[in-house]
Amino acid sequence: MANQELIQKAIEVRDRAYVPYSNFGVGAALLTKSGKVYTGCNIENAAYPVSLCAERVAIFKAISEGETEFVELAVVADTERPVPPCGSCRQVMSEFFDSEMNVHLTNLNSNTMTVKMEELLPFSFQKTDMEK
Ligand code: THU
Repeated sequence: MANQELIQKAIEVRDRAYVPYSNFGVGAALLTKSGKVYTGCNIENAAYPVSLCAERVAIFKAISEGETEFVELAVVADTERPVPPCGSCRQVMSEFFDSEMNVHLTNLNSNTMTVKMEELLPFSFQKTDMEK
């Protein structure tokens, strides 16, 4: 799948963001090695911290369907620069994505930046760190 197709899916799902508090919609689309795409939008809550980011919705949907191998992720928001994922999402990404996996960050003006997982969250805490 071309990057642009994955980005388009992220743009489309962003329209379903439930954001009555921030009014800031985010969309994400995650391509699996099996060729499926799992999308996610951010979903907020009156109890603000209960809200969930678009990236984690997409990742958790995929994991809950038994997917464990991923090829690339696209994230989009209406930002000046390509949208930077929050720290919690970076940590969740680092749990499931290879360090070399590409993450496409973009905005509605098509300013796109592609970064590797390792660049998004270097020196991340991993399950292997608990093995000593
Ligand atoms: N948000 C995301 O969905 N992904 C990010 O990586 C950054 C922040 C959402 C959370 C909240 O619903 C809104 O954007 C404002 O923070």
